[in-house]
Amino acid sequence: MSTTIDSTLNEKRTFTASSDFITKATVNAEKLAILRKAAAEDHEGFWGDLAKEHISWHKPFAALLNSNRAPHYSWYDDGELNVSYNCLDRHLSTRGDKTAIIFEGEPGDTTHITYSELHKNVCVFANALKNQGVKKGDRVIIYMPMIPEAVIAMQACARIGAIHSVVFGGFSAESLKDRIEDTAAKIVITADGGNRGGGVIDLKKAADAALDKGCASVEKVIVYQRTNTDVTMQTGRDIFWNDAIEGMPESCEPEWVNSEHPLFILYTSGSTGKPKGIQHSSGGYLLNSIVTMQWVFDIQDNDVFWCTADVGWITGHSYVAYGPLATGATMLMFEGAPTVPDAGRFWKVCQDHKVTIFYTAPTAIRALMKAGDDFPNAYNLSSLRLLGTVGEPINPEAWMWYHRTIGKEKCPIVDTWWQTETGAHMIAPIPGAMATKPGSCTLPLPGIAADIVDNDGNIIDEPNKGGFLVIKKPWPSMVRTVWGDDDRYQKTYWAEFDNKYYVAGDNVRKDEDGYFWIMGRTDDVLNVSGHRLGTMEIESALVAHPRVAEAAVVGRPHEVKGEAIFAYVVLREERPESGINEELTKELRSWVGEQIGAIAKPDDIRYADNLPKTRSGKIMRRLLKVIARGDEITQDTSTLENEAILDQLQGKS
Ligand code: WTA
Repeated sequence: MSTTIDSTLNEKRTFTASSDFITKATVNAEKLAILRKAAAEDHEGFWGDLAKEHISWHKPFAALLNSNRAPHYSWYDDGELNVSYNCLDRHLSTRGDKTAIIFEGEPGDTTHITYSELHKNVCVFANALKNQGVKKGDRVIIYMPMIPEAVIAMQACARIGAIHSVVFGGFSAESLKDRIEDTAAKIVITADGGNRGGGVIDLKKAADAALDKGCASVEKVIVYQRTNTDVTMQTGRDIFWNDAIEGMPESCEPEWVNSEHPLFILYTSGSTGKPKGIQHSSGGYLLNSIVTMQWVFDIQDNDVFWCTADVGWITGHSYVAYGPLATGATMLMFEGAPTVPDAGRFWKVCQDHKVTIFYTAPTAIRALMKAGDDFPNAYNLSSLRLLGTVGEPINPEAWMWYHRTIGKEKCPIVDTWWQTETGAHMIAPIPGAMATKPGSCTLPLPGIAADIVDNDGNIIDEPNKGGFLVIKKPWPSMVRTVWGDDDRYQKTYWAEFDNKYYVAGDNVRKDEDGYFWIMGRTDDVLNVSGHRLGTMEIESALVAHPRVAEAAVVGRPHEVKGEAIFAYVVLREERPESGINEELTKELRSWVGEQIGAIAKPDDIRYADNLPKTRSGKIMRRLLKVIARGDEITQDTSTLENEAILDQLQGKS
């Protein structure tokens, strides 16, 4: 990450929105000052007022923050609401005929769905779920392509108080099985397949493979037919979506749930063990997704909002399935890859559907930048008025390209820092109210007490001195616990500084203006193309292969993906001659693909007789990182048990 630090340390440019943008913005500098003042004066009251203003409560709350069980916090926990009601029903009288979802499939098929239609579809499917035996509190796994039915399924769960857990369609059968078993889900909702990258991803086949391995809790599998590929249906268990909705009523009374009722569980990688199930609430989660749509995305009634994230990630929850609908916006969903049929696809979609707000990951920006300016220049991008990024630090070069070539120097860029655990944006620009700097996610949002501390938990005030990113006060959309492993929740996020601060796991510095610059993770979590992957997870997958004895995985900087996966492997057999065995490398890569998913396949695999360990037996990860980067080894290697393996690890012998 040192290259990122160097390049961003020298970054002094600042950019402000045009006066036209500022005039029309929901939040200008004056309004922002009012928000900040209110939050500073009364943190809880601030969030209480917003919750009254932005959420339709079935039973109003009186309680604000409840810290009795710290570090477990709850918000508004005597209030009742329904998230789907807030996303759909409450818009019907004013926006019933407004388009809620514009969908474009990878093959080019498009659909427009109005709020009334979406409401009807969600009610019908919610009734179908009930009819299949789903009750409040039951877990439902959603393993679907990026199609409107994925959002319908999520909203339908929310409507009946079922807890969904969406599994990214790119995850393997093995990963799906782990998540089904961890949640003890009753129902799996999937599709025959999804169109992605010019081919079809066989989701039902993967679901079958997962179910064959166990998953005893699953009673029913609902299969949406998207690609019309052949699927095997197990009698009594599997039912097609269209058959499940047959004859279902078009209205469905929302299940009014407590504000703290879990809305969903979403798995994310950590530094140890299997991915953890991040559990979110209903009211608090909904509130932050709404206010950030307004503050950061400046969402307005005539916008066409496009967040390119898959619903399998948190970004696809907060800024596809919930935030846009809760704010009555028109949003676009796109099923496919950015490069199908060519690297102009995103820009064509922006042009064809007159997208006004576009939100994507730096990795996509870098990949499309590499493809050349002819692609974006072939399309009319004049509808765009605001651009956003998320998932990893954006290098100033990519930021400038995004600004010039896509935004034509007139669109502010919002670089949004947040996490699966935070539920919504935490540190991000408010575009009509403040200047941005390429590579910085700028300032914490009102009511978000983000700061930097040193190893002892002392606040770092000195500019440009790095430290741990912490949040000092609870906020409504914070993670509630790790599903089934509360101990892990407490250890991972709170134990470091005696339950005083939420610890994000990121390294960060503040510049002279107080702007935050994220410098990478502090733990063994990689960020590959904006996706979190635990090195331990990949190591366990490798070691599960019969020919592998030991493995160590580190990241190395990658031009497009941010980080690439570098694996050092010790075999149970003789090390291949000169350390090369392409056949085996291919096999191990696809093995990891089967164990986790294609995104976890190592980019490089290097074979050695041993791993570098200290005399006390600890793997010297720092050394492995230096080697993976191809840098000169400057650190002391005298404690190495077997110095001779350095040549092997470096690929020199
Ligand atoms: C990283 C994605 C720099 C960070 C919403 C964080 C970022 C992890 C940014 C969370 C950003 C996210 N700048 N780094 N704007 N946004 N990250 O849970 O390391 O998939 O901790 O949530 O991504 O990843 P997650």
